[in-house]
Amino acid sequence: MCGIVGYIGPKKASEVILEALRKVEYRGYDSAGIAVSNSKIEIMKDAGKIAEIEKRNDFSSLQGTVGIGHTRWATHGEVNKQNAHPHTDCTGTICLVHNGIIENFAELRERLGKLGHKFKSETDTELVAHLLEENLKTAKGDFKKAFFDMLKDVEGSYSFVIFRQGERKIYGARKSCPLVIGIGKGEMFFASDMPAVLDRTREFVFLGEAEAAILSDGGYDVYDAAGKKTSRPSKHVDWTPQMAQKEGYPHFMLKEIFEQQATIRQSSAVDVNWAVNELKRAKNISIIACGTSYYAALVFKHLLASECGIRADAVIGSEFRSGVFDKGTCAIAISQSGETADTLSAVRFAKGKGARIIGITNVFGSSLTREADATVYIGAGPEIAVVATKSFTSQLVVLYKIALTLAGKKKELLQLHDLSGVAEAVLSKSGDVEKLVGELAKKKDFFFIGRGVYFPIALEGALKLKEIAYLHAEAYAAGELKHGPLSMLEDGVPIIAIGNFDENMVKLVTNVKECKARKARVLAVSDHLGLLAEADWKFAMPAVPGLFAPIIYILPLQLLAYYMAVKLGKDPDKPRNLAKSVTVE
Ligand code: F6R
Repeated sequence: MCGIVGYIGPKKASEVILEALRKVEYRGYDSAGIAVSNSKIEIMKDAGKIAEIEKRNDFSSLQGTVGIGHTRWATHGEVNKQNAHPHTDCTGTICLVHNGIIENFAELRERLGKLGHKFKSETDTELVAHLLEENLKTAKGDFKKAFFDMLKDVEGSYSFVIFRQGERKIYGARKSCPLVIGIGKGEMFFASDMPAVLDRTREFVFLGEAEAAILSDGGYDVYDAAGKKTSRPSKHVDWTPQMAQKEGYPHFMLKEIFEQQATIRQSSAVDVNWAVNELKRAKNISIIACGTSYYAALVFKHLLASECGIRADAVIGSEFRSGVFDKGTCAIAISQSGETADTLSAVRFAKGKGARIIGITNVFGSSLTREADATVYIGAGPEIAVVATKSFTSQLVVLYKIALTLAGKKKELLQLHDLSGVAEAVLSKSGDVEKLVGELAKKKDFFFIGRGVYFPIALEGALKLKEIAYLHAEAYAAGELKHGPLSMLEDGVPIIAIGNFDENMVKLVTNVKECKARKARVLAVSDHLGLLAEADWKFAMPAVPGLFAPIIYILPLQLLAYYMAVKLGKDPDKPRNLAKSVTVE
């Protein structure tokens, strides 16, 4: 949440920062701003998405080769120009951007207010600029000391990027929010995510929890929380700039849906042995995740039961107190970003109880990788659209690989490698899904149903539709309809019935008939002729080995949500009120 960028080098900072901000706009897009240092600090900021702001503001008029920028997902204070970042102190010489939440906001506001500071915004961030101004007085003009004193004073989560008039340095710090350093040729960057500057460098330094860094023209220094210099060598990453571009697709979401024919194959080659060894030693298993990743957790729970005969617990990150963790627990935390605050809190809670942690993530060097005893990278490449698509199928492929390795099922492991061909076959029929949208886009309420392992797939299909098309969608284990939800069915309400021809199919067909008897209309996503025959609309799935079908069955549901959003005039890449990488609890 919130994209932040800092630049120091020979180039025009405003141009470099603007380009970088566009690439991390998925982190927040209700307002944005840039500040550069000249003879004085100049700031340009406004409410809206970057493309809208640019129509009203000429960022290129900002001269200077040091600067910082921000794209916001509002927490403190409504969305308006005053609350947009960057923020400054009373003198206008200290300027900063922030991602996170300052928890001792009220106390700081009172203390600084009493000292005579005047606030221009309602944000918690601005207080930090005034705190630095105050600290600078007691530090007798030593800004580095003022900076480290400030870090001791603020409570909560943050990544900061800060600069000061007349100094060719940028100060950065992180705690429970991401911040990386990019090392270019004669230039240095701060960014909340690597895609911001992938076209300029692939050399990154991953700051540890509660670490700080100071960038200068000559390079970077890293410090621990107490302000003691420490060493953090850089790492080369194999993500390419093309991976973070649309490459001819109208939206990142569509590009990422189509990429799955390749990412499913890539993820099937991931090494899971460490994770498997951890699981073999465990007395009990808990799976922790949020949102889409939680639905992957539910599929994994199902697989552990069906393929390995192992009972596991799936815990929503924010509900970690409902989980039981102890020294015998292996907790598997699944998170695309590796930065989800709810998931990380659950992981810390589980660790505190003595559990071992396996992290399953897509992002190299993310916070989860630092908390985990073993990490598996799912290998989906950068996911730029706010909603998860390719990361979900990559999570599933990796989780299947773990379960099948644990169960010693060699033949099935080989089949996992061949799935990408089926994905390609389904995606090649995207036009059939698009045609369905003509009628479905007139509907307001949707019910997704599935049985067994298709229930989490129904949940994920409904979540996609809610997130990007803003339509009311619910998902049920199909057998649950008769226990209450059937009363909501009216003439023409769409039921999306999902499932392949397995032991649950006869009952799913019965559930569909029950819906039809109440005049609901059915879209069947299935390979089963009996279910397809019952349906008003159909998406006939190709034959997929039954065990793996859930990985493939989500594809038409992703396409359905995408085409619905486009038909209804919504931006599927930047859904309202959401942001990628949810770093607040
Ligand atoms: C849905 C979506 C979210 C995330 C959730 C967890 O499309 O993207 O529900 O799945 O916020 O995020 P990660 O996986 O980064 O922990």
